[in-house]
Parts: sequence; C-alpha cells; structure tokens
Amino acid sequence: MKKFSKNIKYDEDAYYMSCPEYIADYIANLLKGYKCAVELCSAIGITACALAKNIEKVYAVEIDSQRIEMAKYNATLYGVNSKIDFIQGDVLNTDLLKSIQAEVAILDPDWSVDKNTPEIHSSSLENTTPNAIELVKKVRKYITNNIVIRVSKNVSAEELKNLGSCHIHNIIYGNKLRFKYAFYLENIKESKEINDDFGEIDYK
Ligand SMILES: C[S@@+](CC[C@H](N)C(=O)[O-])C[C@H]1O[C@@H](n2cnc3c(N)ncnc32)[C@H](O)[C@@H]1O
Repeated sequence: MKKFSKNIKYDEDAYYMSCPEYIADYIANLLKGYKCAVELCSAIGITACALAKNIEKVYAVEIDSQRIEMAKYNATLYGVNSKIDFIQGDVLNTDLLKSIQAEVAILDPDWSVDKNTPEIHSSSLENTTPNAIELVKKVRKYITNNIVIRVSKNVSAEELKNLGSCHIHNIIYGNKLRFKYAFYLENIKESKEINDDFGEIDYK
C-alpha cells in the first residue's frame, strides 16, 4: 500500500511528517458522527482531507503558508476542497482558536526535537512544536473537550493518561510501532490501549 493514493503536492519535511492516507482515513472514520471538526497543525492537509470525507465541515490550521497552498491543491484532488476552511496561522493564538467552532479537534504537532535530525522524535508532550500540553489546554478552553492527538511512539501511555482518560491507539505497520493517537472524547471514562496493525505501508 502506498503512503498516498493521489499525486499530491508536498515539500520534503511535510512528506516525512504527514500521516499515511490510509491511517488518516481510519482515524477519520472513527470520528464519523461529528458535524464539524478542526485539524490543528494540518501541514499539506492529509488528515483534514480524510476528515472531510466523513464530516460536513472541517477547519485546517497551519502556520506555513506554502503548506496551506499545497493542502488546498491536495483537497481538490480528493474532491473535498469545498468542505475545508484553510486558515494560515499559529494554533496557539487565542483569538484564532476562539474564532473556530468545532465539536472535535485533531492535534498533530511536529515531534522533531531538532530540525536537522527529524528522525529523532520527542519523548515528551512538552517538547513538540508547538508544545502539545499547552495546545491541549487552550483547545479545551476555547474550542472543545473532544480532542484527538497524534504523538510520537516515544510518548508514554502514562504521560498521555495524565491529560485525562483516553483511548490510545498504537499505530503499527511494517511490524513496527510508528506513532500513537490518544482520543480524549467526552464519552471516554476509562483509559485503554488498542494495537492497530496496518500491515505494510510503502513510505515512498
Ligand atoms: C506533523 S505535521 C502535521 C501533519 C498533518 N496533520 C497530516 O495529517 O499529515 C506538523 C505541522 O505543524 C505545523 N506547525 C508547527 N507549529 C505550528 C503552530 N504554532 N501553528 C500552526 N502550525 C504549526 C508545521 O508547520 C507542520 O506542518
């Protein structure tokens, strides 16, 4: 299975950081039923497009203006451009967050500790860009308590549970744990871990 099914636009860093389309589709499918979603740190729009296949209205916020333009192009390839509002800005900006009305927020900060070594991923939610803990607090305050966050495989279940009860999906492919999603949804009262094995995904 290829990382992306379409001939999308990307830059090298964004390609590396982006969620494989099949996994974004899987996560978006779990969120069916919400009417409006926001993706914070949307890069070239892979998860935002997956969300828009399942949810009527999607916001996608990204700080890099070139990635926003690529994401708009990619959204036309997936036929979901009209369902996504692309916003160029800082996800920690309080006024920006206040302007978004969404029932669920998907957070996808950059895990690299140093731009020169993107393969070394943070083991702490505080060392992501932007700081994931600060972002979760702001999203809870200004948008919604329904939060899904994608984090590096190095972030422990304990640290994720410190933010509240959650379901942790360990994303496995090629026989390796690649990354995790933590679901903090209002109906989740007890934490549990789920292993999702996607078999093989061709990265190039
Ligand atoms: C892991 S990538 C996102 C991948 C994307 N969500 C996907 O589904 O493929 C992280 C993105 O966060 C963006 N970013 C970093 N700091 C930001 C901030 N303060 N506000 C908005 N976007 C930010 C980066 O430019 C980068 O494109």
